Amino acid sequence: MRILVIGSGGREHALAWAIAKSPRCEKLFVMPGNGGTETFAENVPVDITDHAAVIGFAKAEAIDFVVIGPDAPAVAGLGDDVRAGGLLCFGPSKAAAQLEGSKAFTKALCDEAKVPTAAYARFDNEIEALAYVHDQGAPIVIKADGLAAGKGVTVAMTMEEAADAVRDCFSGAFGESGSTVVIEEFLEGEEASIFALCDGTSVVMLPSAQDHKRVWDGDRGPNTGGMGAYSPAPVMTPDMTARVEQEIILPSIRRMAERGTPFTGVLFAGVMVTADGPKLIEYNVRFGDPECQVLMLRLKSDVLDLLEATARGTLKDVKPEFSDEVSLTVVLAAKGYPVKPETGSEIKGVDGLDGARLRVFHAGTIRRDGRLIANGGRVLNVTVLGATVAEARDRAYDAIDRIDWPEGFCRRDIGWRAVARELKPA
Ligand code: AMP
Ligand code: GLY
Repeated sequence: MRILVIGSGGREHALAWAIAKSPRCEKLFVMPGNGGTETFAENVPVDITDHAAVIGFAKAEAIDFVVIGPDAPAVAGLGDDVRAGGLLCFGPSKAAAQLEGSKAFTKALCDEAKVPTAAYARFDNEIEALAYVHDQGAPIVIKADGLAAGKGVTVAMTMEEAADAVRDCFSGAFGESGSTVVIEEFLEGEEASIFALCDGTSVVMLPSAQDHKRVWDGDRGPNTGGMGAYSPAPVMTPDMTARVEQEIILPSIRRMAERGTPFTGVLFAGVMVTADGPKLIEYNVRFGDPECQVLMLRLKSDVLDLLEATARGTLKDVKPEFSDEVSLTVVLAAKGYPVKPETGSEIKGVDGLDGARLRVFHAGTIRRDGRLIANGGRVLNVTVLGATVAEARDRAYDAIDRIDWPEGFCRRDIGWRAVARELKPA
């Protein structure tokens, strides 16, 4: 098969790496790709927001299968356009991508499908939103409605923070994304990332993961796209996983089909495990980044079989196999991330670190004159397998300490919850 992966992050490097291992992969392109993907696939410098150009390239190169990695092209309807062009595509329709593109859409679906989630209200003006915050009290959660690169959410522990967040949304801090605001009940518990391949009707649950969204050690500082992750998430016991499938994923998928907008692709549920059971925090319509990196390192089956069955609607009999080992990834980011990352610095010591149980997946990197250059906020994902989370963590930080990049930083405590559990079993 000739395959085109859309995207340029760590998630797409990991997907492309897994695809390239498939005996059925004849030729692999990544559009636009990064400094990691270019070492084993062909990077294509086409603007992925130009759907006609993407399809034109795919036709000219006789692509058999297009795999959409990120949320933005899915929400923009690239999947529909690629399929309308007669090509096989992994990724949701624009209508189904509203599960990520609009928090208000997902809340309405949860009501219809009786999916447990935080109580909420939706506002399109500041005065009513502030009055509601005043009534409800803190802690409370304020969300800009649309895509805001993970930055449109404020978990406000005080009334002042809550009121500031409401004002920020309506004053245009998140552009159009903030013109509708969803205000939610604060959910207390432990969070996990749940992934389910869906072909419209059938669902295949993948292993769970947990990420670290805050930028600093100890889960402090602003939210980011994710500073590290590990899989499995210990909080997701087999019983809890079955509950998430039965109470959250399946009713949502059924309701999407009934609405005439079946969901295909990978559904990523951010779930809070509360004292009352699992509750949906949000849906995404793509793999998590960096969660995808740990899943791909654990995956033993041919990823192409999974992605293709999802796209063709033949998931019913698919049973992917994953390593029993733990996988953990640590993100190296450019200083200043997530606010204003400094790009352009050289990174040394990365090539040659990869081994059987260690992969450095690239995100914001480019290669220039044989040098590896930081070109984004999140830059590298050092991803390892280990018998325990503690062992995986130690191996990841050993590798990181061999990377020479003074302009970068990482959290030093990835996996802390799971390591604490290993030291003191419940
Ligand atoms: P979201 O973009 O909706 O995933 O929100 C980003 C992060 O904010 C989540 O991963 C949670 O850690 C936190 N969060 C979102 N909604 C809630 C909620 N209702 N209660 C507590 N924490 C939340
Ligand atoms: N790591 C969380 C996300 O991809 O949204």
